[in-house]
Amino acid sequence: MRFSSSAKLNFSRFTERMYKVELSNENRTVENPAGSTILESTLAAGVDHTHACGGQGECSTCRVLILNGLQHCQPRNEAEKKIAHKLNFPPEVRLACQTKIEGDIWMRRMILDKLDMEIVSGQFEDESGIAIGSQEDLTMMFIDVVNYTALVERFPPYDIVHVLNRYYRLMNAIIKENHGLISDVAGDGILAVFGTTGDRSNSVQDAIDAVGGMRTRLELFNQYLDLNFNITFGFRAGIHFGSVIVGPFDTGAMRKLAVIGDNVNYASRIEFANKEFGTDLLLSEEAYNMVKSKFENVRMFEASLKGKSGTYRLYAV
Ligand code: FES
Repeated sequence: MRFSSSAKLNFSRFTERMYKVELSNENRTVENPAGSTILESTLAAGVDHTHACGGQGECSTCRVLILNGLQHCQPRNEAEKKIAHKLNFPPEVRLACQTKIEGDIWMRRMILDKLDMEIVSGQFEDESGIAIGSQEDLTMMFIDVVNYTALVERFPPYDIVHVLNRYYRLMNAIIKENHGLISDVAGDGILAVFGTTGDRSNSVQDAIDAVGGMRTRLELFNQYLDLNFNITFGFRAGIHFGSVIVGPFDTGAMRKLAVIGDNVNYASRIEFANKEFGTDLLLSEEAYNMVKSKFENVRMFEASLKGKSGTYRLYAV
């Protein structure tokens, strides 16, 4: 059905040596003659293994997850290296059309149907640096608008949406200038992520620099708000550095880089704690440890955070 003549097998060119490829999706084992690729052996066994480019190492739809026996896979060739780099594949994700093995493996096909194929095509357009899901140490920053409630209470929907769109555009520009990207917005709240591109070790400083940019440029924005709406905005920001699951979430209508995990909630709680301490920026201890050599006159607060047990040290830099 999705097979290409270019991937057809001629087993006679292989030696007698056979390895076993155990397929977790099909719960069966196929034989792999030494010298053949994984894809050649699955197709020869009649497995409906997607391979949109015909085994040329260009589409990645033949990708498999090696569950056991990665050490039996030969190193990536140049074609596979190129795709693996572009899509940020971890070592255990391999292109079946390019990978030859030297021992038994257990694997799972990753692209199984038309919808999977559509998701893959979106990954090639991804510019976030993280085209597929992975666990990464990143900096998360939550930002909230001070005076948002007053805006919502006093103005009609047109004005609220218009002002928020101006605000989002301003924030997006500042965050991008500092090597971050907006992962999500909800009302007046923005979740920004730093470290997906560029120097990850500098990602906390990038987030702090973005806050500095907001402080400066919000002054101009507030002149506009004051003149037209007799209102001004402030902001509160919480920054945390930690491990999260990150990847592009694709609804078909909208694609965004999402971060998931307890560390995301932690950043949100830190932002909220600004209310208690009268600050506009707080860092978690993990974030502060990344930049502490650069700051003096730092204030430290012991905080209880909603939904989390114990107390946490937060830092205003
Ligand atoms: S079939 Fe296209 S990359 Fe393997």
